Amino acid sequence: MHEIVRAWVDGWVVSRGAAPPQPRPWGVTIDVGDVQHVSRHVLGAIGEGVQETVVRKVAGEVTGAGIWLKAFRDPADVSAWLGPGWWVDPEPGYLMTVPLEPAPGAGGPDGRGTLPDGYAVRDWTRGGVTKVLVTAPDGSLAARGQTVPTGAQAVVDRIETAPAHRRRGLGGLVMRRLQAAAAATGARRGVLAATPDGRALYETLGWRVEAVLTSAKFTGVEDDTVPQLTGRARLPGMRRLFPVTDQTAPTAPGGSAERGGDPGAGEWSLDEIADAYAYPEPAPGGPRPYLRANMVSTLDGAAQHEGRSHPISNATDMRIFGTLRALADVVVVGAETVRQEGYRPARVRAEFAARREAAGQTTAPAIAVVTASLDLDFSLPLFTSPAVPTLVLTGAAAAPDRVAAAEKAGARVVTAGDGGGVDPARAVRALAGLGHTRLLTEGGPRLLGQLVAAEVLDELCLTVAPMLTAGAAQRIAGGPAVPVPHRFALVSLLEEEGFLYGRYRRA
Ligand SMILES: NC(=O)c1ccc[n+]([C@@H]2O[C@H](COP(=O)([O-])OP(=O)(O)OC[C@H]3O[C@@H](n4cnc5c(N)ncnc54)[C@H](OP(=O)(O)O)[C@@H]3O)[C@@H](O)[C@H]2O)c1
Repeated sequence: MHEIVRAWVDGWVVSRGAAPPQPRPWGVTIDVGDVQHVSRHVLGAIGEGVQETVVRKVAGEVTGAGIWLKAFRDPADVSAWLGPGWWVDPEPGYLMTVPLEPAPGAGGPDGRGTLPDGYAVRDWTRGGVTKVLVTAPDGSLAARGQTVPTGAQAVVDRIETAPAHRRRGLGGLVMRRLQAAAAATGARRGVLAATPDGRALYETLGWRVEAVLTSAKFTGVEDDTVPQLTGRARLPGMRRLFPVTDQTAPTAPGGSAERGGDPGAGEWSLDEIADAYAYPEPAPGGPRPYLRANMVSTLDGAAQHEGRSHPISNATDMRIFGTLRALADVVVVGAETVRQEGYRPARVRAEFAARREAAGQTTAPAIAVVTASLDLDFSLPLFTSPAVPTLVLTGAAAAPDRVAAAEKAGARVVTAGDGGGVDPARAVRALAGLGHTRLLTEGGPRLLGQLVAAEVLDELCLTVAPMLTAGAAQRIAGGPAVPVPHRFALVSLLEEEGFLYGRYRRA
């Protein structure tokens, strides 16, 4: 671990009351314990030393929302290596240092010399943290900051000046007092992580930039959002296990598979994934509806963990998820999945625009929600601002006021059943009647079970996650068992880091 990163981590954990850093081969993991900041992975290298393979590995193993990644390299580099579900702070941070002098702080021994009239400054030390507080004439907070000396180093943290009190030298005053306090304990170097604004101030005080910092937060993969990645997105470790071709190769020592002896060919672009999952060509008599399901399951058959599927998914699964959406005319989904997973409209994705246009498709697939109750929040973006109007599939007996609410929000309500519920076969026909023949369903299990029972499912794209969860989670298809098991044939099987991505077609 680079010694400046080490120094920053050691002081930061004390400053924030975080858990002791746990050493990892690539840096440290720190438990923070806040809702929006559960824990953080800090890579130990700086600059060019931060390697793509390491960033991909560390980020790829994150599955829970609220986990941060700190990498001391430019966001322009690092963001391209993060998978879906990662939010990257567009503003870089800066790891900075300053030599500390054991001289009295500028502005007088107590810093009052530069204090505007009526302002007050106080400082105190508790639990190894020295805080400086500047209050305005009315007693409100004007500026603050804190430092944690850890021997020869001192980390400076949480420097803030309230907007109404900026441009009065208060930030500089706080910094000088903190530096003087740290130097008085014997610290000889200050370390901090700065925002771009902070950097400008600190440079005037003698601080210098040691490395650029990328801050990224995993927000949880909810849909096909691939925030920082476009067509450049590649899957370095993917290999085809079936059918056996020259694409089936052992994983190379570096962790990437190579295909056909062509270096770098082990990477799968989004286009290659799209080709691997292309819908069948229309039959000579014209297109007929083709319904595929895309589901993820653990080894022991769980279709969710704690009510969501993303804890059992991974970045590549989500990329396939997004690609399958990009190939579909419509995405059919049960209302409970919409409610539980907070469904948003499918995004228009530039990397698939040409393919969709050539296939005569709208810019994004429509989402079709299957519901009897219409107990849905029609003020959500899924209904109010989709690229393509959202469909609501329901029965003829649906409550008229709910139908009116759906239509008012902009949804198109399609009746596909005589009673309260939807008849699966009729739903497929109704969608085909609207020109949607490339159908994708994302479940959930209760809906998928009915599609299976009605024998309208043509294909299952199943991700098997190398995880065991035990418990009583639903399987991918629920409801009454079919009298005779339906046989499906394996079309293809891809593998990456133990996840199996299978494609099965009705035999
Ligand atoms: N592992 C995976 O790949 C995967 C995929 C998707 C979801 N999931 C998980 O599965 C869970 C939700 O699935 P689920 O099986 O409970 O629910 P679901 O199938 O998503 O939705 C069930 C709801 O859909 C509506 N519905 C279903 N069949 C209908 C019919 N024939 N006619 C009219 N409406 C119908 C009803 O909505 P109303 O109540 O509004 O009438 C019903 O309550 C979540 O935990 C989710 O995370 C996992």
